[in-house]
Amino acid sequence: AFTIKLARSQRELPVPSDRSALACLQEAGIDIDCSCEVGVCGTCRTTVLDGVPDHQDSFLSPSEREANDCFMPCVSRARTAVLVLDL
Ligand code: FES
Repeated sequence: AFTIKLARSQRELPVPSDRSALACLQEAGIDIDCSCEVGVCGTCRTTVLDGVPDHQDSFLSPSEREANDCFMPCVSRARTAVLVLDL
């Protein structure tokens, strides 16, 4: 489990281990474009401002992964306790 922090509203959303970050964001009323929901299309790409994503997608290149500046919330999680998103 980890926590998503929304930079614009300063809201914090817990992401339990059995839910996707995307599902938690949608449930909180955050509108995120998504399509495949399995980490291949890149539609849900979301900017990460702080924290380290645990990339589970197959869309980003290795260098994009290492940049730690975005993630795919439909499948990816966090290596840090908190992930701050530009939302
Ligand atoms: Fe396709 Fe997330 S919806 S990568």
